[in-house]
Amino acid sequence: MDTKVDIIESIYDPEVFRQAGHRLVDQLTDYVLAARQGSMPVLPEPNPLALPESYQQPLPLEPAADVTVALHQRLQELIEQGIHLQHPGYIGHQVGAPVPAASLAELVAGVFNQSMAVYEMSPSATHIERQTARWLCKLVGWNKDADGVFTSGGSLGNLTALLVARNHASGGVAWEKGVRGGPPLAILASEQAHYSVARSASILGLGQENVLRVPVDRNFRMDTATMAECYHAAVAQGKKVAAVVASAGTTATGSFDPLREIGRFCRAQGVWFHVDGAHGASVLLSPQYRSLADGIELADSVIWDAHKLLFMPNVVTALLFRQGSHGFEAFSQEASYLFGRHPFPEYDLGLRTVECTRPMQAWKLWLCFQLYGARGLGELVTQKLDLARAFAAKIKAQADFELLTDPMCNILCFRHLPGGAGASTLSLQQLNEHQAKIRKRVLASGKFFLVQTLIGQRLYLRCALMNAQTTEQDLANLLELIRKCGAD
Ligand SMILES: Cc1ncc(COP(=O)(O)O)c(C=O)c1O
Repeated sequence: MDTKVDIIESIYDPEVFRQAGHRLVDQLTDYVLAARQGSMPVLPEPNPLALPESYQQPLPLEPAADVTVALHQRLQELIEQGIHLQHPGYIGHQVGAPVPAASLAELVAGVFNQSMAVYEMSPSATHIERQTARWLCKLVGWNKDADGVFTSGGSLGNLTALLVARNHASGGVAWEKGVRGGPPLAILASEQAHYSVARSASILGLGQENVLRVPVDRNFRMDTATMAECYHAAVAQGKKVAAVVASAGTTATGSFDPLREIGRFCRAQGVWFHVDGAHGASVLLSPQYRSLADGIELADSVIWDAHKLLFMPNVVTALLFRQGSHGFEAFSQEASYLFGRHPFPEYDLGLRTVECTRPMQAWKLWLCFQLYGARGLGELVTQKLDLARAFAAKIKAQADFELLTDPMCNILCFRHLPGGAGASTLSLQQLNEHQAKIRKRVLASGKFFLVQTLIGQRLYLRCALMNAQTTEQDLANLLELIRKCGAD
């Protein structure tokens, strides 16, 4: 390529885009089919030190000879070195095999490249986001006062909701004056709450010591009687509780806190009630399982990750407020060069999020609602929660397996007990080592990817069923494989 002009023309050549794009979709389709058939290990040997040759090369200085071919090769390497969420044996973290139409929507977002901070940079996408937020608010059970925005992940969603709660508890002065003026602010959350809640407390200047951990019951749900005691003890110590955070459901076990009881308590005390529904708010779309989130409508704020149980590509988090106007209290900040150019501030979504530039995240969810309806997306949720129950029944029927607790959603924790529950002579530590060894061997087999989690002192194997292709038979095969991996 000779001149600067030639290079720029070739970068933007629409026919190359068309050709490479068609080939790319073919390649991705072949990949998805191969992964679904399990014809590759779920995860290649996970060793960050064994860096492939292609990732050790110096910065390329010149254009590739053929962009379409180079794109194909680079994608092939990416696939070969990656973890395969489309493989039915992927049952690990709460990241799903995306709905294909939503993946196409990502491509659209990459071409259309709207920025969600200000209306004029995203007119149609802003309407889409606002409409999607209102749909979700309705599913929560709220009226037309409710409103929300989208943000980049559940952690940022929790942080932003708690920022509003902090400002609310400080009478609106925390943004200007910081949190030093009034009584120390505290947050109540269960021992099982996601770490982003505690992390948010430090970011917000509250400090870890003001994250008051409420114990859980045997089903890993927040113990509400103890919550009330914690609350009154905090108040007696001169603290002001800025928010109670309930999980719907928890990361480790997928447990739903008793939202109605917690919500009623918060109402009675006049304290902010935040529901971390990052994982489980999607049950609201499932007629069979929406009662798990009973009482969610009592919340002041809810976060909802569509990139978890709704199988959207990462990331789509809805941050919803029962009183939509509260969403503006997170950031009482002026940026007059960006905002306020028209008399409808609710259309400048950047007033309500940490991000300034932000992709059109809601679009992919909105599109899937258009294509498959609430019923279609709800079926995805129901299918996985049904499967979790079937798998739990299977585990319980095996003498040499122990289920931690009946699953409320699509997350299960269990252990292998060599020789059966009564016969096992292994110590706590040996049993923990046994689970860790099993996990390592299962991963090395390439047939499944599952994770592990420490509950109290005990190590459990943990799986989140995040793939529409995973079947009961796959999970029966997993138990057999675990037995083999545990034997020696
Ligand atoms: C209950 C819960 N809340 C919040 C988060 C954080 O969400 P994200 O990974 O989108 O930041 C997670 C992630 O697993 C979660 O399980």
